[in-house]
Amino acid sequence: MTALATATLPSKDLLSLEELSTEHIHLIFDVARQLKAGRDAYTNLLAGKRLAMIFEKDSLRTRFTFDIGMTDMGGTAVFLDHRDARIGSRESVKDVARNLERWVDVIVARTYKQKALEELAANCAIPVINGLSDDSHPCQALTDYFTLTEKFGDLAGKKLCYVGDGNNTCHSLMIAGAKLGVHVSVCTPEGYEPSAQVLEDARRFAAASGGSVVVTSDPAVALADADAVYTDVWASMGQEDEIEERAGIFHDYQVDEEMMELAAPDAYFLHCLPAHRGAEVSAAVMDGPASIVYDNAENRLHVQKAILVLLLGAWS
Ligand code: CP
Ligand code: NVA
Repeated sequence: MTALATATLPSKDLLSLEELSTEHIHLIFDVARQLKAGRDAYTNLLAGKRLAMIFEKDSLRTRFTFDIGMTDMGGTAVFLDHRDARIGSRESVKDVARNLERWVDVIVARTYKQKALEELAANCAIPVINGLSDDSHPCQALTDYFTLTEKFGDLAGKKLCYVGDGNNTCHSLMIAGAKLGVHVSVCTPEGYEPSAQVLEDARRFAAASGGSVVVTSDPAVALADADAVYTDVWASMGQEDEIEERAGIFHDYQVDEEMMELAAPDAYFLHCLPAHRGAEVSAAVMDGPASIVYDNAENRLHVQKAILVLLLGAWS
């Protein structure tokens, strides 16, 4: 249970995890657990509420789960596909924000620049949720740790090892893990480490929670005793030109059965998806007994429903 007096989040928006306290993360988990257990009891929670989704990049999970989440709770969602035109290219980000707030109650945006999210949020009175940016993927990391709490209970003292590119997903896993008292180890090839600022922030949060954050290029060090092993694509959306070059550089960082052997026995395997079997993960691991990737994909729905009801003040 949460120690918070009110069922709200600290800011009108959810743009990054730095702004959430450990108690807020637990609040999201508590609400997600209840929504998951009792879907039929919450079909009117967001009756009449409208969500706008504006995405500069492709999506399967984020788009479907936010849309279905709104529908499950009596609301509606409208999707605007900006794949070929960045938000702000036809009219200013400010005007997009000022129009949308007249029609809808909440926005989920998937952008290249984190700054575009911040500008959107600064120019409207309604909540803006980060549905992934180049810098971070907060809804994903919250879901990842929610899924792990379903497996382990309290995560304080557990170890999560992220192998691969020090990207948006990695950043959010570092921040959320550090706030939850998790020992997060990140294993990347040299030159592909997570941002120094994120590492500094994560270490500060870990110092307060009893967790830790380590970055190394040595899989044996990173994976030792890991309770969960995580990977993501080697080239993120927007880095398509680097796919071939990165395939060579990341070659030794594929999560395969041999790598899983370096982790704790019975360690779980997670991936935010989409996955590339034979690249960042072997088919044997992706489809093997350790993999909880589809449990995790399902949980995007429940965790994001919790974020929606908390930001919209619909939970008491
Ligand atoms: N993991 C994730 O965010 O998936 P999508 O890119 O399909 O939304
Ligand atoms: N790092 C990946 C995550 C996709 C959900 C990307 O940004 O493409």
